[in-house]
Amino acid sequence: MKGIILAGGSGTRLFPATLAVSKQLLPVYDKPMVYYPLTVLMLAGIREIAVISTPRDLPQYRALLGDGATWGLRFSYLEQARPEGLAQALTLSRSFCAGGACALALGDNIFYGNGLTERLREARRVVESDGGAAVFATQVTDPQRYGVVSFDAAGRAVDLEEKPERPKSSYAVTGLYFYDGEAARRAEALRPSPRGELDITDLNRGYLADGRLRVEVLRRGIAWLDTGTHESMLQASTFIEAVESRQGLKVGCPEEVAWRQGWIGRERLEQLAARMEHNQYGAYLRRLAGEGEP
Ligand code: DAU
Repeated sequence: MKGIILAGGSGTRLFPATLAVSKQLLPVYDKPMVYYPLTVLMLAGIREIAVISTPRDLPQYRALLGDGATWGLRFSYLEQARPEGLAQALTLSRSFCAGGACALALGDNIFYGNGLTERLREARRVVESDGGAAVFATQVTDPQRYGVVSFDAAGRAVDLEEKPERPKSSYAVTGLYFYDGEAARRAEALRPSPRGELDITDLNRGYLADGRLRVEVLRRGIAWLDTGTHESMLQASTFIEAVESRQGLKVGCPEEVAWRQGWIGRERLEQLAARMEHNQYGAYLRRLAGEGEP
């Protein structure tokens, strides 16, 4: 399965912080925001990833991530000329995905928690073997800001709405989507929503109508952090700082995930640590390399 990270958009909600810098490159505590969705794809076992961003910001992503080889990955870069909607990620990456299944991660979504890796792998496995699409939903206090899924009495997903004024449930659909090889064709057939965008919720609604959408609920053991406002960005940084300093383990560290997956060896990890000079991130990588087998 291939991966897509959508990291474009105009970031107007965070102006002036994002006037000259892509939102998804802003730091969340100790690393660029995009590292978090990137490591989520890596935890799902995905190594070939297309990064989509604006013509202005794409060079910065290339500068940060390169071709991916040092992390045992392969990055491609695709331009989104205008932010015309999330579903456009699927049409833009049509030839990259070459008719195969893919996982789309929004570059501003942060996940952390117990059992996440297993949930990701299971969603991937199901979509690869049975086709269709899989999304994750989680309870929030402000569902009107998101795609919202409602369920029937038996817990089956029955409806999806994008930013409804009166949400029918408190379950938001997160920005991580697993699709079969049909997604690009389906996305191509979409028309702009009343908001004027090619909504991902419309794409998902098509899968739901065909009985091909799996909605996995993430319960309290897994946190889904928001980065949509200055306050929530600060909260996300504080959350990551609290987890990292308490446990001495990093969240969203691509070098660590690559090492634990066996995609890079100790020598490479040591080189990556050396590149970080004498800061705490480099010290962390050096510590990992010294710990023995991943
Ligand atoms: O985070 C989950 C939510 O993401 C879902 O619950 C919603 O259903 C989904 O529509 C989306 O809602 P947002 O309000 O977060 O969408 P937003 O327009 O802010 O775009 C999400 C990210 O994608 C943002 O970092 C900017 C980027 N983006 C957005 C658009 C519209 C692009 O790169 N290209 C685009 O065309």
